[in-house]
Amino acid sequence: MNKLIGVRYFSNSMVLNAIKSVTVVGGGLMGNGIAQVAAQAGQNVTIVDLNPDILAKSTKSIENNLKRVAKKTYKDDVAKAESFVKDCLERVKVSTKVEDGVNVDLIIEAIVEKLDVKQELFNKLDKLAPEHTILATNTSSISINEIGAGINRKDRYGGLHFFNPVPVMRLLEVIKGDHISEETYQAMMEWGKSIGKTCITCKDTPGFVVNRLLGPYSAEALRMYERGDASAKDIDTAMKLGAGFPMGPLELADFTGLDNKKAILAVMLSKTGNPVFEPVALVDRLVSEGKYGRKSGEGIYKYEQNKNN
Ligand code: CAA
Ligand code: NAD
Repeated sequence: MNKLIGVRYFSNSMVLNAIKSVTVVGGGLMGNGIAQVAAQAGQNVTIVDLNPDILAKSTKSIENNLKRVAKKTYKDDVAKAESFVKDCLERVKVSTKVEDGVNVDLIIEAIVEKLDVKQELFNKLDKLAPEHTILATNTSSISINEIGAGINRKDRYGGLHFFNPVPVMRLLEVIKGDHISEETYQAMMEWGKSIGKTCITCKDTPGFVVNRLLGPYSAEALRMYERGDASAKDIDTAMKLGAGFPMGPLELADFTGLDNKKAILAVMLSKTGNPVFEPVALVDRLVSEGKYGRKSGEGIYKYEQNKNN
């Protein structure tokens, strides 16, 4: 029988220490949020991204968001607020090389939503990372079993699906692949709690819980706007004031990224066959024009400046 003793998970096969150090591969919208919450929880974090400009933007975004947290937490105690931000930032390192980030307890992938690109990364991480390292994907919709099909450590692999903005959204979906060990699953759940998230568990099903339910709603809203049934602003206002959502569906699509939306719709359609996930021409057009939403400065709406959170 497997037992949790202190912070170590024992089984006949493998001993996993509690997760204390993390690497996030992909320093975009999600990656920088994941790095922020891990650093806030006292963990050492490395962010890896191919693009050095993204790494600079990511670090700046983390600093700004930590300042917001510090201002709220320490109110008028300026010294404490400053040292909180400084200490957190000292725990965050960045690199353009994945090799610099492999000697950790947990590696979370948050790169582009494309199966072949993710598979290539995981195959590389599996070869480079120490034996005890747990590998996880933050995919929104792709099957985690498919992403991890080529790795050997299938028992030390799973899904950790965060929500945008990561520092604010309290949920973490922990996704069980077919071969995940109980030790890995428990370590992931404990780690989720340690960074302040409420964890739920889901099987490896298309869109897991949240995106399976949010996806059809979002697609219907985009089509409603495309047909001209109502203006973007009115659709968003309707769902905020009439249904109590914090953001309207079109604002949310811009916020999470229309490139992600397009990728998620394609996966969901192929896996479920549900016509609600058919491509939305408006989304395809905007993505082909480089209008990804808030992160590129324009999507359904126009934004005054590029925002990365
Ligand atoms: N870091 C730290 N704190 C942050 C932050 C960040 N990045 N962003 C916002 N905050 C804090 C603010 O400081 C503020 O805190 P207080 O209320 O304590 O002062 C609070 O969060 C609210 O922020 P704002 O006042 O700036 O803005 P808001 O009230 O309009 O809320 C929002 C912004 C939290 C994003 C809210 O609109 C919201 O919840 N929107 C819906 C988001 C959502 O549905 N996300 C899930 C998308 S689906 C997904 O992510 C999965 C997928 O696979 C695509
Ligand atoms: P993003 O486009 O903001 O960031 C992706 C980053 O990955 C980019 O900075 C890119 O340079 C980098 N990258 C691409 N290939 C790489 C590689 N091989 N090695 C290192 N870096 C690489 O994307 P995002 O919105 O942060 O989404 C990332 C992942 O998280 C996707 O799988 C997405 O489906 C998922 N996700 C997104 C959201 C959301 O709201 N945007 C929510 C939950 C999950």
